[in-house]
Amino acid sequence: MRSLALILVWMVVFGVVGTCHGGSLKKGFYNNTCPNAEAIIKNATEKRVASDPTLPARFLRMHFHDCFVRGCDASVLLNSTTNNTAEKDAIPNLTLAGFDVIDDIKAEVEKKCPNVVSCADVLALAARDAVSFKVSQTPLWEVLTGRRDSRVSRISEALANLPSPFSNFTTLVQNFANKGLNVQDLVDPSLNATYATFLKTQCQSLSDNTTFVVMDPGSGLTFDNNYYVTLKQNKGLFQSDAALLTNKSSRDVVDKLLGSKEFFKEFAKSMEKMGAIGVLTGNAGEIRKKCYVVN
Ligand SMILES: *[C@@H]1O[C@H](CO)[C@@H](O)[C@H](O)[C@H]1NC(C)=O
Ligand SMILES: *[C@@H]1O[C@H](CO)[C@@H](O)[C@H](O)[C@H]1NC(C)=O
Ligand SMILES: *[C@@H]1O[C@H](CO)[C@@H](O)[C@H](O)[C@H]1NC(C)=O
Ligand SMILES: *[C@@H]1O[C@H](CO)[C@@H](O)[C@H](O)[C@H]1NC(C)=O
Ligand SMILES: *[C@@H]1O[C@H](CO)[C@@H](O)[C@H](O)[C@H]1NC(C)=O
Ligand SMILES: *[C@@H]1O[C@H](CO)[C@@H](O)[C@H](O)[C@H]1NC(C)=O
Ligand SMILES: *[C@@H]1O[C@H](CO)[C@@H](O)[C@H](O)[C@H]1NC(C)=O
Ligand SMILES: *[C@@H]1O[C@H](CO)[C@@H](O)[C@H](O)[C@H]1NC(C)=O
Ligand SMILES: *[C@@H]1O[C@H](CO)[C@@H](O)[C@H](O)[C@H]1NC(C)=O
Repeated sequence: MRSLALILVWMVVFGVVGTCHGGSLKKGFYNNTCPNAEAIIKNATEKRVASDPTLPARFLRMHFHDCFVRGCDASVLLNSTTNNTAEKDAIPNLTLAGFDVIDDIKAEVEKKCPNVVSCADVLALAARDAVSFKVSQTPLWEVLTGRRDSRVSRISEALANLPSPFSNFTTLVQNFANKGLNVQDLVDPSLNATYATFLKTQCQSLSDNTTFVVMDPGSGLTFDNNYYVTLKQNKGLFQSDAALLTNKSSRDVVDKLLGSKEFFKEFAKSMEKMGAIGVLTGNAGEIRKKCYVVN
């Protein structure tokens, strides 16, 4: 959950996605054309999440990666072809598992309503329903629908647009600047010494790139605001985390999000804004039959 928690602070502080292009998304876009679409997606998602508790975080990340590259248009779901290397094959994809699950959920929708419900909407709804499952009786945020799917997905755009935690700080600042963010005055991180010692024991060697560590210690699979608690203990794993404490406005937001109620409220607001970034609507794009290939 940490990458989203990080993005949330940036969005609140810098008002990233204030200028939504999501004007023509609607509540219940499929009311007439596929009345059960949202219920089918919810059921299918919950069934999968019940047997794989890592899916909520995976779907959230996938939705976020989709929205930050070309807008929320399911471009992240397309496979590479002989002529094109897709976003999926960018480095950040390595932790973006769960594509096959989205494909399966889409297939269930297709059985009932062929060629009606877009992959972009399936992903936006599945992310919401996966995270809400077990946390809340009601959905944690509203997902407007009516997105359409792009016919394009390019690895170069993923590499250029995604604020990857593997980027050095210069690159990270540039990523946000490209989204209209003005990031200043960020200084070197100070990692909690106890935590740093612990992390060193986890790595087998300096070139070890296969060991996984939990990025939100103690709460890795739970949707909550624990990220901000650990951040305040200087346990933000990346420079990009530590940087949040070095700017007064972002530090104030971190303090605010230590309150659970504020966290859920702000998270919902930011997700609704993010889900509207650069969407295709009306006659733009298409309704993909299978999420991994254009029609
Ligand atoms: C779909 O139905 C819901 C609930 O009745 C309503 O709030 C929404 O406006 C409807 N949307 C459309 C596009 O008809
Ligand atoms: C979703 O699951 C509920 C509970 O199992 C069931 O009653 C309902 O019919 C399902 N809806 C759809 C559209 O599959
Ligand atoms: C790849 O490009 C070739 C030559 O332009 C074209 O004939 C072929 O249909 C393309 N394949 C795909 C999968 O787009
Ligand atoms: C991720 O990208 C690598 C190459 O960078 C590729 O080998 C791998 O198949 C991709 N994984 C997925 C799930 O698309
Ligand atoms: C396309 O991607 C899906 C996952 O979304 C994967 O299961 C499948 O093997 C890929 N197909 C091809 C032809 O690469
Ligand atoms: C950061 O990464 C970029 C791209 O890899 C590179 O061009 C730049 O020199 C790096 N900057 C620093 C300060 O290491
Ligand atoms: C925090 O960052 C914002 C956005 O870059 C900037 O406008 C503000 O001046 C910074 N605040 C401080 C105290 O550095
Ligand atoms: C890990 O390091 C090896 C050797 O440097 C490299 O070949 C491989 O691509 C790296 N894997 C990842 C996931 O970065
Ligand atoms: C470092 O982490 C420990 C808990 O693991 C905490 O008690 C301590 O306050 C932290 N130190 C700093 C400087 O944040």
